[in-house]
This record gives sequence, C-alpha cells and structure tokens, in this order.
Amino acid sequence: MKLADNKATLSFSNGTPSVELPVYHGNIGPDVIDIRKLYAQTGMFTYDPGFLSTAACQSAITYIDGDKGELLYRGYPIEQLATQCDFMETCHLLLYGELPNAEGKKNFTRTVTMHTMVNEQMQFFLRGFRRDAHPMAIMTGLVGALSAFYHDSTDINNPQHREIAAIRLIAKMPTLVAMAYKYTVGQPYMYPKNELSYAGNFLHMMFATPCEPYAVNPVLERALDRIFTLHADHEQNASTSTVRLCGSSGTNPFAAIAAGVACLWGPAHGGANEAALNMLGDIQKAGGVEKIGEFIKQVKDKNSGVKLMGFGHRVYKNYDPRAKLMQETCKEVLGELGLENDPLFKLAMALEKIALEDEYFVSRKLYPNVDFYSGIVQRAIGIPVPLFTAIFALARTVGWIAQLNEMIGDPEYKIGRPRQLFTGSNRRDVTPLAQR
Ligand code: SDX
Repeated sequence: MKLADNKATLSFSNGTPSVELPVYHGNIGPDVIDIRKLYAQTGMFTYDPGFLSTAACQSAITYIDGDKGELLYRGYPIEQLATQCDFMETCHLLLYGELPNAEGKKNFTRTVTMHTMVNEQMQFFLRGFRRDAHPMAIMTGLVGALSAFYHDSTDINNPQHREIAAIRLIAKMPTLVAMAYKYTVGQPYMYPKNELSYAGNFLHMMFATPCEPYAVNPVLERALDRIFTLHADHEQNASTSTVRLCGSSGTNPFAAIAAGVACLWGPAHGGANEAALNMLGDIQKAGGVEKIGEFIKQVKDKNSGVKLMGFGHRVYKNYDPRAKLMQETCKEVLGELGLENDPLFKLAMALEKIALEDEYFVSRKLYPNVDFYSGIVQRAIGIPVPLFTAIFALARTVGWIAQLNEMIGDPEYKIGRPRQLFTGSNRRDVTPLAQR
C-alpha cells in the first residue's frame, strides 16, 4: 500500500472543521481513502451497510475488475488457470503466491493426499442428523467439529499451525462432503483412495460403493477439477469477509471456516446455484421456453420477490468470466454424456439470451454469474441439487484459508468491530411490572 500523491479533504456545511484524509494506492484497482482517524478527528462514523464502497482490508490474493469482467488469482487470469492448470496448482498459488513447478506440485499434492482421511469419530456426528438433513447443515456442523480433533493446530497465531490447518481443511473437505452425501442416501462411507487425483478421489468417495469397482470418468474428473478452480476464491465476498471477521477474534481456523460455510449457504450467495437450478426446473415444469416471458415479467415485478437466480453480482457489472467457463464446461460434460439436448441447458441459454436483450437487466448491468450454469453441469455429473453449495464450500475453502492466513499474517490487523448509526430509544427508566 503506497501513499498516493492525493489527499481527501472532508469539509462540513455546518462549520465543523474540515479534516484531511490520506489516500492510498494499491497495485491495481481503486485507491482508498484512509478513514481510520475519522472518528477521533470528527466524532463521526462513515455509513456503508452492505459495504458497497468500503475496503475492509488490503490483500494480494484475488483481484476483480467488475466492469471488465476480469478475475485474477495472484495476477493470473482465471481463463488461463482454469484451462492450463489444475486445482492443486491453484491451491498452491492461492496459499503461497506462486504456481508450483513439477516437483513442488508433486510434493504439495502428496501432502494434501496424506491428510484426506478424517478421524473415525467424525462419523458419529452424522448419526445425530436426520437422513434428509440439508448437506450444508451437516457441513456447518462437521467443519466446526474438526476443531475438536486438532488441538495441535488451533493456535491461529502460530504459522506452523496455520499451515497444517490449511492442508487439513483442503484435504478433508471432499471427504466430509462425500460423507454428508452418503449419509443422506444411506450408503456406507467410502475411504479416500490415495492413488486418485483430488477431483477423482471426490468422485470415488461420492459414487463408489464397496460392492463393485468404480472407474473415474476423466471428462467428469476434469470438469469437477475446473469447477473447483472457478470457485476457489473471489476477493472479499460475504463468506470470505465472514471468515476474516470471525478469525480476527483469534478463534481457531476450523471455527472460522465453519462460519464461512454457514454464510455461503444463503441463496443470495453460494446457495444461488441450487436456487438457479430449482428456478430452471420450475420454468421447465410450467411449460419451458415459452414460459420464459411470463417468468421475466414476474422478476420485473418488485412485489413478486422473484429474482433471476444466477444473475447479477455486487461487483461484476459485466459477464462473470467464471460463468463463460462454466458454460463451456457444461457443453463438454453434456457432450461426453450424450446429453447435448438437456432441456434445462437449452432453457438456461434461452433465458440468458432473452435477459441479455431485456432493458430491465441491461440497464441494471445484470449478467449471468458463476452460479447460473454450475448447477446444470453438477446435475449432469450426477451430483444431487442440495449438494451444490457444499461443493462450492469445498472449493472455496482454499480461498477462505488463504485470506484468513493473509489477515493473521498482517501486523496491522485488529479484531473487526464495526460501529452503527443508532436510531433506537433515548435513555428511559423501567416502569415496574405492576404499573406496566
Ligand atoms: C455469488 O460477492 C461475490 O463475489 C459472490 C460470489 C463469490 O464467488 O463469492 O461471486 C458468489 O454469490 C454470486 C451471486 C449469486 N447470487 C445470485 O445469483 C442471486 C441473485 N442475484 C441477486 O440476489 C443479486 O444480484 C446479488 C445479491 C448477487 C447482488 O446484489 P446487489 O449488488 O446488492 O444488487 P442489488 O440488489 O443492489 O441490485 C441492483 C438492482 C436492484 O433493482 P433496483 O432496486 O435497482 O430496481 O438489480 C436488481 C435489484 O432488484 N437485481 C435483480 C437481480 N439482481 C439484482 N433483479 C432480478 N434478478 C436478479 N438476480
């Protein structure tokens, strides 16, 4: 962060003395006005619910240019990472700042592979859930429960603890998600197989049974690996901000990541892929493509509360680059499975075309986001709809832990403690119950 050759002067029309605020440059992207001393100098807070204009931290991990529709992980464009690298290389990049060479990739992948098993006690947590529990309810519980097993890596201020906790979380999330799935279908859990890739092992733990051999389909393996890369990190989104705020109290990394899982579940955030697929299913049931006009009319009617799920984004005011890559992955997987005529995919493309030509969406710069197509490709792979967000959490874990470790490693960080604009009652005395 460098001091800009610019200052912000805040002046007040009521005669309050004006204050000068420093302006800082990052490397790319908007400058920031440093308001840390504002309250001390003016007795006033800034007001920014939803943080539309607030930089909550400095970070060197992910950069998004919402107008250009650009997404960089440590400077590398997502289009190149998703097509020239795999998820293990992306994890190494997000955690350590550089893509590994062949030796480094082999060692990192081996380290992750050696941590894919969970403590045998973890299976007893699942027994407490109903079989029809939502996988995200299970995951919120299981991830938090990990902190009960790793007392050797819960001191977030210890760099070695942070390192091993990162590896354990990245390695164990697929195992936990697969266990959550097997529990809901009443099948036995499958142990990890160390000779498989990260994505291949997840497919194995999800769909293999003890009764017969299971062959990983390389096209599905590659598609899933790309889905993980596309979801790996995304700057200071709601769940990452949750992880940072939770971790800023010094709590252990497993608890902080569990908070991220809980936040991601919301339909406005990671839950949108499940909601988008359900939306497409509803339109299909109502009559398909010819019902799109009616649906769009509902979306435009503010009172309907209906949103076009998988569309719009707080930052992207252009096409989400991940959505483009997800659409391509959709075509590859549907082609591989002979599902080119998948009605939901055709419906999604028709809906996208209509929306992108409709003034309501154009004027609000609403484009497809990562969630619009991800549900279709996951459904084609055979992943049940309620598990979509759990897979998003699996992939985002590396981003959450990289961002958390970056914050803890920043000497400037403090516990996060926002203030408020108070609009409640003035001081008043209690009336005794007998007189109320
Ligand atoms: C993710 O932050 C991240 O980076 C998140 C994420 C990540 O990788 O971490 O990218 C993952 O969460 C993607 C977003 C998934 N959510 C959805 O697809 C749900 C549908 N989208 C909307 O809920 C909404 O677009 C948000 C929540 C994504 C963004 O909301 P904003 O920035 O607060 O936008 P807004 O509500 O201010 O919308 C501006 C206008 C409003 O209309 P007006 O008040 O101007 O008349 O656009 C409308 C909104 O009503 N609008 C939509 C819409 N999204 C916004 N109208 C219909 N359908 C939509 N999807």
